[in-house]
Amino acid sequence: METVKLTPMSSAIATSLEFLVRELGDPQTRIYERLYRQHPEVQSLFVLDADGGVRGSMLQTTLETILDYASKGRLDLVSLGAWRSHHLAYEVDAELFTRFFVIIRDCAKDSLGSDWSTEMETAWQDLLVQVRASEAA
Ligand code: HEM
Repeated sequence: METVKLTPMSSAIATSLEFLVRELGDPQTRIYERLYRQHPEVQSLFVLDADGGVRGSMLQTTLETILDYASKGRLDLVSLGAWRSHHLAYEVDAELFTRFFVIIRDCAKDSLGSDWSTEMETAWQDLLVQVRASEAA
């Protein structure tokens, strides 16, 4: 019963990311542009990442976290918590860490335009609630 209820929601997230990639090819540039626009102070943190490799693997890990949530209906809190605390060394606090998920959602929403569905909105909202709830863990 629970699985039946989760399936459309989770596939809504996966579909939104598929659209994002279909629309933009590699969404990395657009996602980091949005991050820097909203948080110009973080740009200097990536100054040594000349070829974008670290940012690529950070985005990859975040997308994998989202797709893992989409397929299982729950977050991998251990791995997410480990990455979050790892980021304290870069002075990226829990709230800013969560912003990366919001930025990816907003990029997907922008690139989908009128294809963005109510199911996608709700599914992403649920995911973001869970990411925020795990901040204190
Ligand atoms: C706005 C939020 C975030 C900021 C500002 C941020 C910032 C950073 C910085 C400064 C680094 C190290 C760069 C370097 O070594 O030169 C890094 C690495 C990394 N971040 Fe983030 N991060 C954020 C969110 C996230 C999230 C949500 C995840 C995953 C769920 C994540 C996963 C990673 C990974 C996997 C690496 C290591 C990449 C590698 O060295 O191959 N980050 N991040």
